[in-house]
Amino acid sequence: MQVLVTRRIPRAGLVLLEEAGVTTLVACTDDERGPAPEELRARIGEADGLLSLLTETVDGALLDHAPRLRGVANYAVGYDNVDLAAATERGIPVSNTPGILTETTADLTWALLLAVARRVPEADRYTREGRFRIWGPNLLLGEDVGPGGSGRRKVLGIVGLGRIGRAVARRAVGFDMEVVASESIMGSGPGPDEGIPRLPLPELLERSDFVSLHTPLSPETRHLIDEAALRRMKSTAILVNTSRGPLVDERALVRALREGWIAGAALDVFEDEPALSPGLTDLDQVVLAPHIGSASRDTRDRMAVMAVTNLLHHLRGERAPHVLNPEVYQEARWRERVGRAP
Ligand code: GLV
Ligand code: GLV
Repeated sequence: MQVLVTRRIPRAGLVLLEEAGVTTLVACTDDERGPAPEELRARIGEADGLLSLLTETVDGALLDHAPRLRGVANYAVGYDNVDLAAATERGIPVSNTPGILTETTADLTWALLLAVARRVPEADRYTREGRFRIWGPNLLLGEDVGPGGSGRRKVLGIVGLGRIGRAVARRAVGFDMEVVASESIMGSGPGPDEGIPRLPLPELLERSDFVSLHTPLSPETRHLIDEAALRRMKSTAILVNTSRGPLVDERALVRALREGWIAGAALDVFEDEPALSPGLTDLDQVVLAPHIGSASRDTRDRMAVMAVTNLLHHLRGERAPHVLNPEVYQEARWRERVGRAP
């Protein structure tokens, strides 16, 4: 068996493929770029399995070049880069890596939230540039995250109270925040959070001092935070996005920040990643990161192991632990691919 891995993943995963006697082809070994779509199309024909990253589009046009393919293992919890319906139609199971990156992504969400509220990157630049001459009462004033001197508990609005949203909410206890969550947003399933009130999104935006996005990208959530949403937020509010860039109308966000509709933003993801909307980098009240939500050494290793474990199930024609389209196992086209009798 041969698998196509679109880019270099941590060794912990590659070792498992080796041990299973699977030949691994890496489509692109240059970490500064991904494989071009035509490169993937040219190579997927020889693959029994595909391990894709969120930077690669896996759609019907690609899968039509993959007669041998028994499954796609996406190395991410998000799978908006994969056309699930196109895969199912072609009898191809798709899996993701849920759960293991939850806490790591919640940590980064908090790192960014605190960084923008207390202006940490600006403070770092200021100090590094040798500008710290004397302590000053007016130097780099930010927003309180905890109750601060006023004693008022800050409101954290979580849009998408799924696994990551809940992990972010748990961390808010330490800051004595009041947590509210959006109702009827994808990813807001039932869970052990009975104490967290659900609000319609407009109300959440009006009440929150911090708004953090944790919903998957879908046609329904694209531009969930648009001009109207930004105008509802408090002028002192901070927006944090560690989910997917297109949830936010980034051009509207630049205007909102420039014109003071909101106080700041922390973004780990961008609407047209890796491109940044014009004006974004000119704003001091913005903290930017290159999509590193799950980027701890340990978590990236575990993601590799989980993605490869799913892939090995795909190759063996067995139900993958984290399959996203289990209905595919009823398809005659899947049975043909894995050589199973009906
Ligand atoms: C990262 O963005 C992921 O979806 O795992
Ligand atoms: C700050 O360092 C203070 O002592 O108030």
